[in-house]
Amino acid sequence: LTDRIDNILIKEDIGLDIELYIRKNNYSRIFIIVDENTEIKCLPYISNILQSAFIIRIKSGDENKTIETSINIWSFLQDNGADKKSLIINLGGGVICDIGGFIASTFKRGISFINVPTTLLSQVDAGIGGKTGVNFNSIKNEIGTFNFPDFVFIDPVFLKTLDKCHFLSGFAEIIKYALIFDRNYWNLIKVIDVEHINFDNFLPIIQKSINIKKIFVKADPYDKGIRNALNFGHTFGHAFESLLMLGNKPVLHGLAVAQGIVFESFLSVLKLKLDVKDYREISDYITKFYGRLCLTEADFKLFYKILKHDKKNVNNFIKFTLLEEIGKYRLNNLVLKNEIFTTFTQYLNKHNL
Ligand SMILES: NC(=O)c1ccc[n+]([C@@H]2O[C@H](COP(=O)([O-])OP(=O)(O)OC[C@H]3O[C@@H](n4cnc5c(N)ncnc54)[C@H](O)[C@@H]3O)[C@@H](O)[C@H]2O)c1
Ligand SMILES: [Zn+2]
Repeated sequence: LTDRIDNILIKEDIGLDIELYIRKNNYSRIFIIVDENTEIKCLPYISNILQSAFIIRIKSGDENKTIETSINIWSFLQDNGADKKSLIINLGGGVICDIGGFIASTFKRGISFINVPTTLLSQVDAGIGGKTGVNFNSIKNEIGTFNFPDFVFIDPVFLKTLDKCHFLSGFAEIIKYALIFDRNYWNLIKVIDVEHINFDNFLPIIQKSINIKKIFVKADPYDKGIRNALNFGHTFGHAFESLLMLGNKPVLHGLAVAQGIVFESFLSVLKLKLDVKDYREISDYITKFYGRLCLTEADFKLFYKILKHDKKNVNNFIKFTLLEEIGKYRLNNLVLKNEIFTTFTQYLNKHNL
């Protein structure tokens, strides 16, 4: 399955590389999936291949990552002569990479596709892990496949037009990679001023995150064990996402994960003796750029209910990936209700530590 995982090119001015790749491979037809934003902001960077391509437009937003949208895309492919030798190019964020990969996996039992991820989240995460899919009956990523793109082309230039929230959302995953795997990387990250990113120097930061993700995906492509390390910050993070969704105030995935990282770092102090100084460093950095969620004790009760419904819940314990130290994760830590409530209290009174 992971044969193609290393087929990733990260560089500036990627348009020509994509053109050469396409010429080399002799596709019968080329289809580029875009949304209304990537059509305007990203398509011009690959204008050299437009002449020979069909454009498939979908509406942006996770709420459109559905079977209905898939049906429209399958129909478009059928109506425009797509065959087994056609290529799909996913030009967009995680939504387009996920749905486009799903379409390419299923149309005629699988055709070629390449990802050109254009958000930070998709460059370091969604576009490269071999998971594709759509949401179904309000469950996220309910229907999908494991399938790697033939190639991934990543150009930091796309990030220049990304709004701040989406940038921060992707950056939270970068923080996560550093914390679970590489203290030196964290030392590099923690001095980055997220408000003033210099995209001309950003490529190595992306590269490092991708390298870390690849290690875990190669070891566990089907996500049955060690890949769970990538879930650091996500158990709380997902519960925040659900909580805020219930309150009709949806939050971007990475923004919830950033708060999840603060929580789970504190849990790491409780459970694995993560150094308090390290916890403070993590918490201060995230608070500086991501702020804090305003949650009350009542919210936390509901929040715990949501956590308990999570599938990682074993008997009375909830399972977490935690940090022994910065750069060193440990899987399958069983955490009790009272330990979780201690963490809530700590979060509410942030100056305790
Ligand atoms: N497959 C995986 O392993 C995996 C991992 C993480 C997340 N995901 C999925 O990824 C999705 C979220 O991805 P996302 O955060 O990239 O969101 P997204 O794809 O919705 O993109 C965010 C917004 O940015 C716009 N946009 C994209 N590129 C732009 C650019 N260069 N300049 C300006 N605007 C741009 C999009 O049109 C959209 O409005 C979710 O559906 C999530 O489930 C998948
Ligand atoms: Zn994530």
